[in-house]
Amino acid sequence: MPNVFFKNENISVNADPDITIMEAMRAAGMVPDAPCGGNGKCGKCRVYINERSEYVLSCQCTVGEKDITVSAEEPAQNVIVLQDGISKETAFNSHITRISLKVPPCPAGKSISDWTRFREELIKLVPELEGHMVPDPSVITKLPGALKAAEGNVHVMIACDHILDVSAERKAAYMAAFDIGTTTVAGYLLDADTGEKLSVASRLNPQVQFGGDVISRAAYSLEHGGEELAGCIRKALRELIAEMTEKAGCTPDNVYLVSIAGNTCMHHLFMGIDVDSLVHAPYNPAVCEKMVLSAESFGLGINKNGLLFALPNIAGFVGADTVACIVSSDIAEQKNWTLLIDIGTNGEMVLAKDHKMAACSTAAGPAFEGVGIAFGMRGADGAISKAEYTENGWKLGIINDKPAVGICGSGLLDLAAEMLRVGIMDESGEMEEEKIVLVPAEKSGRGTDVYICQKDIREMQMAKAAIRAGIELLCAHMGITVDDVAEVWLAGAFGSFLNPQNVCRIGMIPPVLRDRITPIGNAAGLGAQMVLQNKDLWTRSGELAAETDFLELASLPEFQDTFVDALEFDNF
Ligand code: FES
Repeated sequence: MPNVFFKNENISVNADPDITIMEAMRAAGMVPDAPCGGNGKCGKCRVYINERSEYVLSCQCTVGEKDITVSAEEPAQNVIVLQDGISKETAFNSHITRISLKVPPCPAGKSISDWTRFREELIKLVPELEGHMVPDPSVITKLPGALKAAEGNVHVMIACDHILDVSAERKAAYMAAFDIGTTTVAGYLLDADTGEKLSVASRLNPQVQFGGDVISRAAYSLEHGGEELAGCIRKALRELIAEMTEKAGCTPDNVYLVSIAGNTCMHHLFMGIDVDSLVHAPYNPAVCEKMVLSAESFGLGINKNGLLFALPNIAGFVGADTVACIVSSDIAEQKNWTLLIDIGTNGEMVLAKDHKMAACSTAAGPAFEGVGIAFGMRGADGAISKAEYTENGWKLGIINDKPAVGICGSGLLDLAAEMLRVGIMDESGEMEEEKIVLVPAEKSGRGTDVYICQKDIREMQMAKAAIRAGIELLCAHMGITVDDVAEVWLAGAFGSFLNPQNVCRIGMIPPVLRDRITPIGNAAGLGAQMVLQNKDLWTRSGELAAETDFLELASLPEFQDTFVDALEFDNF
């Protein structure tokens, strides 16, 4: 088999000549970025092959019969992951009950098992366990030793009618909450006895190697099976738990509860549920209900008796992450019309007032993550994230002050708004020149000019029009005008970094709302924590999901016209 040497990573792998270079990268343990899912459409997987002196798309080019040396473009460094949500006081109401129990010894001349004596004593104190206590091998394994070491005085932890642990000593207990985004994953370690947040950790969602958006990832899963997708995200959570527990000075074995909030596709892929129904009309989820499951089969490395709390979904494209946002923002309780928009790789929104709630998902696509944009990239080192046109030309804000290598979502939005403001682009999106060089080759971090071009603007118009159409149609569905919306809350990383005035200038959000916009940070991550910190909120999450009316935008006859109208820029 030929040898493939990845020069920048200094890794080599022997690969079948017929597999693609991208597959060889995965086989070598790398996580190549594949925004289009390896369809050859996005052009973001370019690599250089020394022996052939050519650049190729790694997803389209096979290894071939001879040894090769491959240089992949440096992946974006230090991708910004928004971890914090607006801080909220959450009343702590633990899922975990701790019991100290005296189990009598077996009377002489009788043979009553440890389990039977333990069970009888525990049911006296917690009668609701009657009917749930079947012999559990992992508890039984620990029981004789604990009884012996503590002369029958054992400590028991229970959650959701399930014995989490039995021990001679009182053991520390922790919980881990996760926001599984399409692009990034954020984790939070909580003290299970106080609810206090102890540490956080985050990283890129490793599923980016199978596609940048939910559709391409679902398509990969249908073609190749879901094991790789489920396996890599579960491994990522396991590693994040290990990282967070190390930071907090404890061990994964003391983590007993884990919650996950992700969009419906991320939810299904993590759980190993077939995503077929998500890619075919009517795009319904396989399951919406919240679930409490044994965590063991998900390979998270936590205590063997730990539980996994999967937040509920609302619809095929409005998932558990939106429910987590609803929980943490308390939007259902608002007395004035409030619009919550989570602009991530997808754009979901919720409009609510006084327990009337409707949600929709917009097919905004991943343009704001850089897909389809000539120099598009995620918010990471070297990304142009802010832009202002001054009399001296472009004044650019670049993440971590590194040489510019591309443009992230907030930069793209600023560039369009400023071009409109100064008149070098008209309201239809027509630029005066085909391309505008922002950073010349000699100053950029990639050896070529970094520019924005007409095609980039067209891509962005589609994304912003999808979001604007969603806002207009959701308001109409609730019988209000956009001017009736008292507050707009922007959740997610993109929502936190963008300039509200510019968002309105390009018309992604109606200009009338420009002074009513507030970023609320990672509301999904906060919701995932809150359902662990308060068991009533966990129950409430199921009710809120069921109460939310889902609006299927694409099925509305007026959708197309609204979308086309929204392509125009507003300018003001
Ligand atoms: S072109 Fe190869 S991943 Fe998109």
